[in-house]
Amino acid sequence: MSDFIQKIKSLSDKYFEEIRDIRRHLHTNPELSFEEHNTASFIEHKLAEFGIQDVQRVANTGVTFCLDGREKGKTIALRADIDALPITEENDVSYRSRNDGIMHACGHDAHTASLLGAVKILNDLKNNWKGTIKFIFQPAEEKSPGGASILIKEGILENPKPEKILGQHVMPLIEAGKVGFRKGKYMASADEIYLTVKGKGGHAAMPENFVDPIAITSQIIVSLQHIVSRFANPKMPTVLSFGKISGGTVTNIIPDEVKVEGTFRTFNEEWRKEALAKIRDITTNIAESMGGSCEVKFAPGYPFLINDEDYTERNIGAARDFLGAENVEELDLWMAAEDFASYSHYVDACFYRLGTRNEEKEITSGVHTPTFDIDETALKTGMGLMAYLAINELEN
Ligand code: NI
Repeated sequence: MSDFIQKIKSLSDKYFEEIRDIRRHLHTNPELSFEEHNTASFIEHKLAEFGIQDVQRVANTGVTFCLDGREKGKTIALRADIDALPITEENDVSYRSRNDGIMHACGHDAHTASLLGAVKILNDLKNNWKGTIKFIFQPAEEKSPGGASILIKEGILENPKPEKILGQHVMPLIEAGKVGFRKGKYMASADEIYLTVKGKGGHAAMPENFVDPIAITSQIIVSLQHIVSRFANPKMPTVLSFGKISGGTVTNIIPDEVKVEGTFRTFNEEWRKEALAKIRDITTNIAESMGGSCEVKFAPGYPFLINDEDYTERNIGAARDFLGAENVEELDLWMAAEDFASYSHYVDACFYRLGTRNEEKEITSGVHTPTFDIDETALKTGMGLMAYLAINELEN
């Protein structure tokens, strides 16, 4: 296999500048979730340039196609997300965003460029692998309900049905040249919570005549801490955080209502349902017991992400062969959410992290910040390893 690894690595080197320029083009021209029209056209244009046929649109701004190897075999899917975030870029680089207030601050430009690199490599090596690879350039990872769930509804996991799905995501905590894997549950489900606590406003000097939603809200927030500390199984990570409270105007007026917004995250679908029901019960009961009321709304987010144990184990082994064992790290649980999770509830999935950090080049900013950037040498690993993992799975 080592000759073959060398072959893929030399193709990654050969295509590096082209793929880096693709990443820079995408970085300069970011588009928000569900609005990736130019991005999708650009991907189609590149695929045509690479000689790829039968490319299809899915969910308006998604792009997909299948590539067949030398003979029939398994089908696997490779996925990249293509959307950007509503952030104003602060990096002073030649490829800085030219779309005001929009930035590839989560590295989806790197995922897309890497997958295009993998397309080139896998297309060049078509006689070296059997089966079918379905490529998915997925829109709207960043915005609920997420592009993945829409693509699944539109049949992306059928005709042909992939047996495995692989995705990668940049990770500025890991050095460029390295990657990270985790078997089993990896990322959390995330639901948004919107509470409107209603009372009856009036002069703060006469509280006995009114219903104070600020006092009620305080009780609610304190009581909801029981969800994590008393109701959650301590062996099941759970987060309940409130990021926003708004209500009231000045010191001496009791307002009519207070709005609270928060997020609930965990790793078990049954507990997720149960916990949201408890949140509803606790908030409405407290508000009513104090003479007010509470309107509770949930915006359901992505499910938890689970990496298939066996498939991920095989990928870890293959990644060690490709990069050297010292360049393959084990990841911790991560309470953030990612819409690749949706696929992982239908197909054996593996979602791994591509290191993009470089302290010497001062590339250390976190994702979703205005100074986020990547060490572009990571694109070599981004395209090469993905191509190798695909072939390894199809051949074995
Ligand atoms: Ni992302």
